[in-house]
Formats: sequence, C-alpha cells, structure tokens
Amino acid sequence: MKRFFSADDVANIDELVQNAIQIKKAPLQKSDLGKGKTLGLVFLNSSLRTRLSTQKAAQNLGLNTIILNANLEAWTWEFEDGAIMNGSTVEHIKDAANVLSQYCDIIGIRCFAGLENKEDDTSEKVYSLFEKFATVPVISLESATLHPLQSLADCITIEEHKPENKKPKIVLTWAPHIKSIPHAVGNSFAQWMSKIDCEFVITHPKGYELDSKFTQDAIIEYNQEIALQDADFVYIKNWSSFEEYGKILPTEEDWLLTNEKLNATNNAKIMHCLPVRRNVEASDEVLDSENSLIYHQANNRTFAAQIILEKILESDGQA
Ligand code: CP
Repeated sequence: MKRFFSADDVANIDELVQNAIQIKKAPLQKSDLGKGKTLGLVFLNSSLRTRLSTQKAAQNLGLNTIILNANLEAWTWEFEDGAIMNGSTVEHIKDAANVLSQYCDIIGIRCFAGLENKEDDTSEKVYSLFEKFATVPVISLESATLHPLQSLADCITIEEHKPENKKPKIVLTWAPHIKSIPHAVGNSFAQWMSKIDCEFVITHPKGYELDSKFTQDAIIEYNQEIALQDADFVYIKNWSSFEEYGKILPTEEDWLLTNEKLNATNNAKIMHCLPVRRNVEASDEVLDSENSLIYHQANNRTFAAQIILEKILESDGQA
C-alpha cells in the first residue's frame, strides 16, 4: 500500500478489519517496524481523535512522529498553480509538500472541505495537490469528501458488535446541527458500507442527499421512523446540503434521536464519530446509553491507523 485516501485503496476490507482486530489484541507486536522512520501529521483543521490515535498507532510501531498544525503555526499556503504570490499566501503547497517529504517517510494530512467552492471540494483540490507534490506515501486524516480512518474504525467496531448469524441492518441517520458541516464522514461511511456484508439505509430530510457517487448502493428512506425499524446499528451524523452546497436547510420533522425513537430498532447499537454537540445532534440519553459505541469507535481509531501504517511500512511504499 502506498496511499490511503479511500476504501478503493484497500484490496480486501474484511481482511483489513480482521488484521486490525489482531493488532488490538497485541498492539506492540511490531514495535520495531517503524524504527528510524518518521511519520508527519499535517493539520489544516482541528482534531482530537485523529491526531492522538494516529500518533499512538505510530508509537506502537516505533515510528517517530512530527506534527505541523498548518492552520495555526505554519506559513499560509497558496494552492493556485502559477500564482503571483504578492497577497496573503506565503508558501506554495508544492514547496510545503516537497519539503515535508524531506523530513518524513509517510505523511498524513487533514484538509476539510471549505464548503464554499463545490468544485474545489469535490475534486479534492487540496489533498490532490499535496499528494502530487509529496514524494513519500500520503494518508488521509480526513479530506474534503472522505474520512477513511474513521470509516475503517467504524467497520472494526461493527465487526466486533454485530449480531451473530444475521446480516446487520445499519442506518445512517442525519442529525440536526447549528453549523454547516462537511459531508466527509457520511460519504465515507456510505462508501465503506457498500463494501461490507450489510443492509445499509440512509435517512435524512429531503434536500440533504449526499453525493450519489458514494451512496449509489444505499437505500435512501426519507422517513426516519421507517428507516429505524429493526436496525442493528444507528450511526448519527450531521452534514450540510450537498445540492445547495454547504447550506443548512429548514427541516420540518424533529430529527434529534431519542430513546423513544429507538424502540423501533432491534435494540440498536449507537454510533457517532465524535465530536458531538450533545442534545443538538443526539440526546444525552442516547449517547450515554449502554448501547452506545461512541468510545469503542474512538478507541478503534488507533488500530485503524496502526494497520494502515503497518501496511505502508511493510510494503515500503510499494503498491
Ligand atoms: N472523529 C474524528 O475525526 O475526530 P477528530 O476531528 O477529533 O479527529
């Protein structure tokens, strides 16, 4: 493996999930694999889980880690080819990516959707430029359209908690939010769910359809009550409108998930990638219930990152 941007970079997801579960049982088994090598983590946006779980995974493999909070403490990046940089930008992304590659053997980068220019976001302008100019393997720590390490951790969590002898029904439910939120987690979850054995349903108000590129294999059910029936897992997530790009649309129904609504499920496990705005996206009673897997998901972020770093180190950058 020489890149990790999406589920399409994984030959066999079931095998990858089983590998991660084995790592979880003995996380220090390959503690020398990364010895003498350096992982760079570049953040153009904030993070708690991704930053620390990936750093912990690197430590487990003996990798040194260096972190650049590019949004806070680096020179402001320019992204336009041929730009005359006489304005606010100080360093071109081609120089930044190339220079970072001199110090690192693998680089992870987080670059959220700006939600202002749909074409820039859907074409993954920032991630693609960084990967183009980096000379070492690059992994996504969440890009404009996808969040693969989160989705891999979610697949591990589902595998650990799925009912026996039954194809699980997994429902991704849109949730309210006060801010305009990117589509990456929802897109990514849909992409990974299309590649595992499950019945996958997405429920959201009309106008909140995700990019059909990622949801083409999903069942879309606009009625949340119907969607939740017999669900084994309910994944709660907000996103802004994709069609009216980045906008928050008025909604008629109350989409906040409560225990009462969950009565229709098959005693469903509850998932959320975190951070969560409690009692806006989901109620405390749901997030703190014994069926909640939110901290299991966060824990599994380490083993998701570790199996990806391991694959890259073992292939020494070869595809
Ligand atoms: N779920 C997730 O990616 O969390 P952070 O934004 O804190 O990294």
